[in-house]
Amino acid sequence: MTLRPGLLLAAGLSAVLAVAATAQPADHIKARHELMEQNGKDTKAGFAMVQGKTPFDAAAALAILTRMNGVANNFGKHFPKGTETGGGTEAAPAIWEKPAEFQAALAKFQKDTAAAVAAKPADAAALGQVLGTVAANCKSCHESFRVKKG
Ligand code: HEC
Repeated sequence: MTLRPGLLLAAGLSAVLAVAATAQPADHIKARHELMEQNGKDTKAGFAMVQGKTPFDAAAALAILTRMNGVANNFGKHFPKGTETGGGTEAAPAIWEKPAEFQAALAKFQKDTAAAVAAKPADAAALGQVLGTVAANCKSCHESFRVKKG
């Protein structure tokens, strides 16, 4: 009699833990990929305007920079413990081994994208300048925190 609630609780808890251990990491890894893929597309579209491959459009440029700032603000939420491997992740172990450095890289990306949005570039040259500063983050963070696979 007295055991029953405890057993029910244990069963319920292990079900919750099972869900947390399976579905959640995959969701985080998927979110990471989607955010960075968007980032890649926006960077490409931005530089296409800078290079005159597509016409400069101030509103579209601002939308690109705003999305990139959104990525910068949200990307760091998707690296809880338990998401180090699996799902084809390219996240490097350094993210969990040197969390302060990863946070610093995220903070710099947030700051540079926020400054780019605030600059509201009005022509291709101005966009090139802010995008250059923003794009330096891609390379430096990837060098330390991304392991490129196949
Ligand atoms: C603060 C660190 C950081 C910054 C800054 C950063 N990235 Fe990434 N990026 C990563 C990590 C970590 C991964 C691997 C994520 C994973 O596979 O779980 C990644 C993966 C990617 C991917 C592969 C996405 C996929 O489909 O798996 C692309 C594309 C990408 N980044 C583009 C960019 C571009 C472009 C920029 C700059 C505008 C940028 N990144 C800035 C950390 C960063």
